[in-house]
Amino acid sequence: MTAVSDSPTAAPTASGRRRVLVAIGTRPEAIKLAPVVRALQDRDRLAVRVLATAQHRQMLDQVLRFFAIEPDLDLDLMQAGQTLSDLTARLLTAVDGVLADEQPDLVVGQGDTTTVLATALACFYRGVPFAHVEAGLRTGDLGAPFPEEMNRAVTGRLAHLHFPPTEGAAQNLRDEGVADAAIEVTGNPVIDALLWAAEHGDLSDEFAPPSGERLVLLTAHRRESFGAPLLEICAAVRELVRQRPVRVVYPVHPNPTVQATVHRELGDEPKVQLIEPLDYPRFVAAMRAAHLVWTDSGGVQEEAPALGKPVLVLRDTTERPEGVTAGTARLVGPSRERILAETLRLLDDDAAYRAVASAVNPYGDGHAAPRIAAAVERFLCGASAAAGETAWRGGAASR
Ligand code: UD1
Ligand code: UDP
Repeated sequence: MTAVSDSPTAAPTASGRRRVLVAIGTRPEAIKLAPVVRALQDRDRLAVRVLATAQHRQMLDQVLRFFAIEPDLDLDLMQAGQTLSDLTARLLTAVDGVLADEQPDLVVGQGDTTTVLATALACFYRGVPFAHVEAGLRTGDLGAPFPEEMNRAVTGRLAHLHFPPTEGAAQNLRDEGVADAAIEVTGNPVIDALLWAAEHGDLSDEFAPPSGERLVLLTAHRRESFGAPLLEICAAVRELVRQRPVRVVYPVHPNPTVQATVHRELGDEPKVQLIEPLDYPRFVAAMRAAHLVWTDSGGVQEEAPALGKPVLVLRDTTERPEGVTAGTARLVGPSRERILAETLRLLDDDAAYRAVASAVNPYGDGHAAPRIAAAVERFLCGASAAAGETAWRGGAASR
């Protein structure tokens, strides 16, 4: 197993502590980086600062509140209906200013958002090492997901440390020429967050459906789903609630395009609840109450298998093939026909349902964050500094 080696340039500062800046922009980054922030703060040799770019506002604040993380710096960048170019330009300028002021020894970012791309690029321009959490995910198609596949590929090219969640993601990085010494397979800290929420959150049964009904939990927000794909998904919802005793709960992403389409297409359906984005423990409770999950989200594809919930991926391709291989996730595309066929099969055939509804966890064991923190400390302070968890070896460990 590969492990991140120490930095050749590591030298202690006057205080002896090295400065680590954690950059967080959107809801999924906050969920996945919250355990990482905590684990970094547990390391005596690191001084940790949290930067909220606030690419998202309300959804970011919701998560930060739950995990009790107060950013040290907040760029407050979100604008309603922001375009990719405008957001990227504003982020690059603002993050550069933060790097100039803060002089971090290393910056940590996660995933494939505009925040991670702009932060990694700003670090590259200033010669600041960048550590990439959830590295190595690829579909191989720059158009799907758009623009996230480009964001993570470019970020991977710029990063000094790579923390892929699985061995498959690590292999993607090696195939692109990343040195083994810069890679550590850690698992995905989303599982750390999920376990934390299950332990500390108030997971009420408010989403339990009335007797005789089943709950389908739906999220769909991706840019490449705008237009015809989202209309297909909405059509599948309408048909499903007519054909079976099913209630659909859909926390609708605040993106104005998503809001307008979904409310127009599903607003009048009595068995469909269109609701505001849920705070994290309530969303976990909704996943637990669900019979099935329909989603185009990345994070939800990782969480649902861990909870033993079959998940239909409303996309044609995924950078998370491990859930599909394990059997709990199925790629059905944004296709009304395929979504319905697979849903009816799982609703009507108990044996088929049981075959896929077992809890498997290909994305981590809940200890990704301490592994990441140990590797960061090793990079900055030298090998003797950081006793850490042993590397995540992947596989489908049952919970
Ligand atoms: C971004 C990420 C996507 C991720 C998603 C998580 C990029 C390119 N995309 O997409 O990978 O899956 O976040 O949800 O970075 N808005 C609000 N309040 C909020 C958040 C968003 O009103 O708290 C609205 C605003 O009008 C904003 C719009 O949603 O302009 C789009 O937000 P943006 O971050 O640009 O894109 P997402 O579609 O959220
Ligand atoms: N999530 C949440 N509330 C909701 C919907 C989703 O807390 O109403 C969580 C979900 O559990 C997952 C994350 O948000 O951890 C996924 O974020 P999103 O779908 O916005 O982004 P993606 O993962 O697709 O990048």
